[in-house]
Amino acid sequence: MDQFLGIDIGGSGIKGAPVDTANGRLLAERVHIATPMPSRPEALAEVVASISRHFGGSHHIGCTFPGVVMRGVIRSAANLDPAWVGIDAHRLLGHATGRSVTVINDADAAGLAEMAFGAGRGRSGVVLMITLGTGIGTALFMDGQLVPNTEFGHIEIRGRDAERRASARVRDERHLSWRAWAKRLDEYLERVEALLNPELVIVGGGISARSDRFLPRLHAQGEVVPAQLQNEAGIVGAALHVRAALASGSRRVPARARAPRPSPAPARRAGRAASSLPPPPP
Ligand code: BGC
Repeated sequence: MDQFLGIDIGGSGIKGAPVDTANGRLLAERVHIATPMPSRPEALAEVVASISRHFGGSHHIGCTFPGVVMRGVIRSAANLDPAWVGIDAHRLLGHATGRSVTVINDADAAGLAEMAFGAGRGRSGVVLMITLGTGIGTALFMDGQLVPNTEFGHIEIRGRDAERRASARVRDERHLSWRAWAKRLDEYLERVEALLNPELVIVGGGISARSDRFLPRLHAQGEVVPAQLQNEAGIVGAALHVRAALASGSRRVPARARAPRPSPAPARRAGRAASSLPPPPP
């Protein structure tokens, strides 16, 4: 039976776990590794390879990426090293792991997971998923169908990129009260609603676990609900993406790349990556 490993690449951490794509549950405790700094492609590819080795077996890998991804090629990387732009991530990560790897925008992956198993399950019409983390990610669905790479986190508000005003990171860095931050989020949602008129807005990202602190302060016209899969949505969505690509026989799934390069000596491994891996599961 095919096995699927979901890996969620973020600006501050890289998380991965095998996923049961029939029900969206993780099949083992997830691994979390701090994103190496600088977050250059080779360093992150080595972390992805170490997570793949950790879980062993012969799995297909679905990865998320916090930027625009078109047919595996990275087109933007607002919160990672700019060296990523133009990189064929299918190829890079395929070579690093020796497995077939697909790559999808992180918010799009989280949205796929919420539509399949979470707050968007069974919902038709226009649904917008918003992820609040290091940046602001968006995933737009029409009758359950994803419109990829929407990037509404970068609309301009008060002359600035929206994610520089209202992401979860901004709340932390500026030590904003829930009230002050919710005001910014409210202004952002109002703009997005005016542009897209979604029937449902799903708010995700780690901060959605504290949604009781900010959702009641919002004045959105439509329905706004917290995500249900929270920190696991990216992992689950990445696994759903590689499964769908395989099922459609898509050329988006590169053939198993050449054998992984031999692991470098432990002292030369990517930064904090290898040393923070827990022991492999039995
Ligand atoms: C990126 C998006 C990403 C979001 C969340 C933004 O800066 O442009 O592609 O989905 O951050 O990581």
